[in-house]
Amino acid sequence: MDTIPELKRPAFARWLGTTNEVTRRFLGAGRIPGLINIAGGLPAPELYPAAELAAIARQVIEEHPEETLGYAPIEGLPDLRDALAARFSTQALKLGRANVLVTASGLQGLDLIGKVLVEEGGLIAAQFPTYLGALDAWRPRQPRYRHVDLEDASLDPVAALQGAQFAYTVPNFSNPTGKLVGLPMRRALVEAAHRTGTWLVEDDPYGGLHYDGPPLPRLITLSGDRQPGQVYGGPVVYMGTLSKEVVPGLRIGWMIAAPAMIEALVMAKQGADMCTSGVTQRMALVALEGGLIERLRPVIVALYRARRDALCAAMAEHLSDWFEWEVPVGGMFVWAVARDPALDTDRLWSIALKAGVCVSPSSVFDSTGANRRALRLNFTLNPPNRLAEGVRRLAAALKTMADQSHD
Ligand SMILES: Cc1ncc(COP(=O)(O)O)c(C=O)c1O
Repeated sequence: MDTIPELKRPAFARWLGTTNEVTRRFLGAGRIPGLINIAGGLPAPELYPAAELAAIARQVIEEHPEETLGYAPIEGLPDLRDALAARFSTQALKLGRANVLVTASGLQGLDLIGKVLVEEGGLIAAQFPTYLGALDAWRPRQPRYRHVDLEDASLDPVAALQGAQFAYTVPNFSNPTGKLVGLPMRRALVEAAHRTGTWLVEDDPYGGLHYDGPPLPRLITLSGDRQPGQVYGGPVVYMGTLSKEVVPGLRIGWMIAAPAMIEALVMAKQGADMCTSGVTQRMALVALEGGLIERLRPVIVALYRARRDALCAAMAEHLSDWFEWEVPVGGMFVWAVARDPALDTDRLWSIALKAGVCVSPSSVFDSTGANRRALRLNFTLNPPNRLAEGVRRLAAALKTMADQSHD
């Protein structure tokens, strides 16, 4: 019998082989039936304003058929760019349309910043541990990373930023740690960016989700204070999104930066997707102008605060022999660090999946994959009884792991 010769195909790009095994398995793990998913950074779907968004969708297509259904400008709809510029301006920080790019969500912004700044082997100074999506977005650029620990009181921000193509930070309730960067460190980072010239990316999906205490000033606001009244031309690249405060499905985000940076990002976006959907951009504009975010915020904050408290209470009951953590004052995550430095959370993750709960192991937030001592737990997606059951399953997995080690 004739054998069919095996097809000789061109090799896939090298970067595809640079991800770690856990990341690869982790990304597909959240959808197993019966599994309690406390791994992802997902909003509570019962809070999606579905009826209101359906009405807005109909309204914008009927009122603006050509603009919504045709190609939009690469930079974004002028009215939406103006609205975003006005929303983020302060007395000192002067923003105009030229400072704003509308993106297909925050993740596209991260991809674009990698495209315009990083050649293969280029250096990124990234807040450590680092948002997995950012590592994914930049993996094809094959960068080098300098890990920057913003909780380290002895950190020298100038040394941290010097020589990097850009610094990446999530000052409000970081993903994965949920930590808030304090005002002195914010000021120091902005000062360092102005001194070194290094671009300072401020990724801010969680800034509206604070449960205790007032918000702190944005890095771009602090940067604008240094050049009051001039159209913003400083080093901060601010990134926002509707994903965590309205819905992720609209895929609307924005970047606010010096006009020269916006122009470069536009070049990259042209080759990425030509434009963000006109339908969802117009919907975002109506939502912003109609105060939808402000109306939703108290409801979201109350629900998430109660869920955070429920998760932390269940953790205190079942996990405190193994882990320690701080109760986060905002965002979506609790970062639990193992008391025993030898506890391997990659291994725990696999055992926990079999026990019916998915959590995020710390290795996926480390460009080297080496950090295996912590877990990220999400409290926004599930109601309190599911959070408690998820934590019980995790505790059972810890016992199984301990028993296996004694065998
Ligand atoms: C730190 C951070 N940046 C960006 C994003 C991207 O969100 P989106 O692409 O939905 O705007 C996320 C989502 O989890 C995030 O946690």
